Amino acid sequence: MAKKVLVSGGAGFIGSHIVDRLVRRNDMETLVIVDNFWTGLRENLAHVTDPRVHLVQADVETFATAEKFDEIIHLASPASPPWYMREPARTIKANLVGALNLVEMLNPGGRISFASTSEVYGDPLISPQPESYRGQVDCTGPRSSYDESKRCTESLLFELHRTAGIDIRIVRLFNVYGTRTRPDDGRAVSNFLSQALTTGELTIYGDGLQSRSWGYVDDIVSALERYFWLDNVDYCGPLNVGNDREIPVIDVARHIVSLVPGARLKLCPPIPQDPTNRRPDLTLCRKVLPGWEANITYEEGVRRTLEWFREAVVLKGAQTDAPSPVRLES
Ligand SMILES: NC(=O)c1ccc[n+]([C@@H]2O[C@H](COP(=O)([O-])OP(=O)(O)OC[C@H]3O[C@@H](n4cnc5c(N)ncnc54)[C@H](O)[C@@H]3O)[C@@H](O)[C@H]2O)c1
Repeated sequence: MAKKVLVSGGAGFIGSHIVDRLVRRNDMETLVIVDNFWTGLRENLAHVTDPRVHLVQADVETFATAEKFDEIIHLASPASPPWYMREPARTIKANLVGALNLVEMLNPGGRISFASTSEVYGDPLISPQPESYRGQVDCTGPRSSYDESKRCTESLLFELHRTAGIDIRIVRLFNVYGTRTRPDDGRAVSNFLSQALTTGELTIYGDGLQSRSWGYVDDIVSALERYFWLDNVDYCGPLNVGNDREIPVIDVARHIVSLVPGARLKLCPPIPQDPTNRRPDLTLCRKVLPGWEANITYEEGVRRTLEWFREAVVLKGAQTDAPSPVRLES
């Protein structure tokens, strides 16, 4: 049966890559993309000409339609700290109220997939982090609108699964980078690339030894399409998805400095509650999605992203409506 699919946040960085994978499907009748262009850009979808695709500018938490959907993929939420820290209530609404609204639009037997985050582990005391780790999150801290709304949306969906049998797929994404990140996104890789190509000064907060596991978007989206719709997986989550090669922030910056003549590091004071480390335990992911690996090396991913940023930042000019740079890494 041909499927009706809805993606929230489809004009964003990851969402637009998900849309590219969805339009390859032959079993999809319509695809409705709901996005309010808070952090997403219309131009991320400018190349999509498939007549099955309908882009609706709306807030996911209030979007209304008489249509019902067989598959809903809920991605609407800023993922970058400066953006979500500036508008915490809006962030909570996008994730949690958005999910509450979207589940009402499911056809009987329909599936809702949700992009949760490694931020649910907070500043982890164990490494790598398996899905069973309960995390160390400060529910009153500056990152809490994001961390806690992801945690609460996970709770909501698991409870609906338990009590009403709703089919769910929950992924916990670790740091993703790549093409179509906003130049003013504010996360480490995109920030360093934008800075290298403009001011030349790459700002490092603290000693830069805080580490992350950087997954290139093509690899990550390949895992998502398998988990959300391609493979017949009977596991509702949570599932860690990411690259388990952990690299300190300063090494990322140094690598970019080596690629862009004239670029240099600038050390700045540390940011409160910046997690010291983040690395996925992918044991479960390798069982659920056999054969999947984050194959694109960090060096290759940065090279591709740099090429894209040269076009986006240098040729077209960076976006200017960025919030104040509260912090730069996620
Ligand atoms: N990129 C990462 O490293 C990462 C890591 C963990 C989790 N995630 C999750 O993946 C999803 C996508 O992340 P991304 O990096 O593509 O972020 P993004 O900011 O590029 O995309 C989010 C999209 O959602 C839209 N949006 C936000 N609030 C909305 C609302 N209320 N109504 C309608 N649209 C709304 C934005 O305009 C944007 O197009 C998010 O849920 C994020 O939390 C991302």
